[in-house]
Amino acid sequence: MDAKGAIQVSHLPGPALQATVDLVAFVVFGDPTRDAVFKAVDQALDGVLTDVCRSENFEAKTGQSLTVHTHGRLPARRVLIVGGGSRAEFTNPNIRDVAATVAQAAIKAGAVSVGMLLPNLGGNREALLVQMAVEGIYLGTYKFGRYLTGDDHKRPTSLKSFGFLTDLKGKKHSAAQTKSYASAIARGTAIAAAINHARDLINEPAAVITPAALAADAQAIAKKHKGSLTVTVLDPKKCAELGMGMFLAVGQGSDQEARFIHMTYKPAKKPKKRICFIGKGVTFDSGGYSLKPSQSMEDMKVDMSGAAAVISAMDAIATLGSDYEVHAVTACCENLVSGRAYKLGDVLTSMDGTTVEINNTDAEGRLTLGDAITYTRTKIQPDEMFDFATLTGACMVALGPYTAGVMSDHEQLVRSWMNVAERTGEDMWRLPLNMRLREQLKSPIADMRNTGDRFGGAITAGLFLKTFAKDTPWVHVDIAGPASLSSTRPSQPKGGTGFAVASIVEYATRH
Ligand code: BES
Ligand code: MN
Ligand code: ZN
Repeated sequence: MDAKGAIQVSHLPGPALQATVDLVAFVVFGDPTRDAVFKAVDQALDGVLTDVCRSENFEAKTGQSLTVHTHGRLPARRVLIVGGGSRAEFTNPNIRDVAATVAQAAIKAGAVSVGMLLPNLGGNREALLVQMAVEGIYLGTYKFGRYLTGDDHKRPTSLKSFGFLTDLKGKKHSAAQTKSYASAIARGTAIAAAINHARDLINEPAAVITPAALAADAQAIAKKHKGSLTVTVLDPKKCAELGMGMFLAVGQGSDQEARFIHMTYKPAKKPKKRICFIGKGVTFDSGGYSLKPSQSMEDMKVDMSGAAAVISAMDAIATLGSDYEVHAVTACCENLVSGRAYKLGDVLTSMDGTTVEINNTDAEGRLTLGDAITYTRTKIQPDEMFDFATLTGACMVALGPYTAGVMSDHEQLVRSWMNVAERTGEDMWRLPLNMRLREQLKSPIADMRNTGDRFGGAITAGLFLKTFAKDTPWVHVDIAGPASLSSTRPSQPKGGTGFAVASIVEYATRH
């Protein structure tokens, strides 16, 4: 379902326990019987909550939840308590999960309206807490159900409204607080919608999400934001004129024509800087003549997750507004085998003139990105550029499936990027761009070859891209692991995750 779906999120100031909703939810940390909110609710329910917690072994562990009927003791028909773990553990991804758990429990109980009391974290974290919770609601109710034909999947969910309760002690809200709630809800809604849209693009089969389909999607997004967002789509002929020899070689084996997509957001005022987000857009990666074994190929429709992230993020950026001129660039094609496909031993000439000998056609992402980076550097000339790519299995070997690898030789830029990732709760870890590994990319007949040895595969891919980034401040994010997951958490079903959207939007819109 689209994140905008049917659930309406709002702020419900007023006495929390008197809220006239079907289900009232709150979060408990540590020993429930020592939690102030728990005590208040327990009292209203004549001690039922304590009894049920004891008999159900509720220890407020993260993700644990418990529903009790109020039997008329409160206006709400049900009370839901969710474990928040320890306060220290209540990080942004966990906040999303807790809100997702509430939304899911509400749907399971058939509730139409929910009121949730968020914990008081102190300091000025409230707005971010609300934003993360809103994201959790929409992310946790996302489902890619287009191809499921059973009745269960067609029925709309019961849940229509989700309110944040903000008063337990009779305190009045200031106008500033009300405003900050509204903007946090708007932020969370726009970001979750973009993440869920990216998930849709990733989860759709490669037969549907072709390079042309991605271009059409970018055009549809631009149409929604007439006046601030524009898009240019280049066909193979135009790319050839620009000399994109690496990008075109990867796509030449497919009957689906390649598309180079360039979206531009312009703020009303003079932009503070110009930034560009580049995404890998290989709509299917068979490996080419360096063919992948069937098992490794099975999920290769996800190889356009970087493109999905940057395209979708532009929607949220245009909705929320940015002080920057923001560009999204993605070179989209399919890596297939055919009589026209590129071969091992081919020497390609990239857009910047560098010649590259192909020793592995499965290292195609860096070829498409290399030309996208040159285009960005020379045609857009941004102050900063970032690329997002499901680039190497080696990155997953190094960091596991949940963590993206971040590479850059620009200390200041990479530090501010890592700060943003920390805030959005997207798991990223820096890997060194060790220049000594550059040796692996030497070729006897061309300026370089496209693949290194077995060791340091994520880094040699990063070093390959650095060749094209040259001196433009640049950060490379390898999202091969977290772009798509086979395990779940409440805010994330199996499949495409929309990873990087949150950080891209955060970087572009929080000044
Ligand atoms: N798209 C793959 C990387 C990938 C692997 C993404 C698993 C998501 C999950 C990429 O094009 C690729 O094939 N990389 C090769 C590079 C190698 C040939 C140097 C790899 O990782 O094996
Ligand atoms: Mn590949
Ligand atoms: Zn690939």
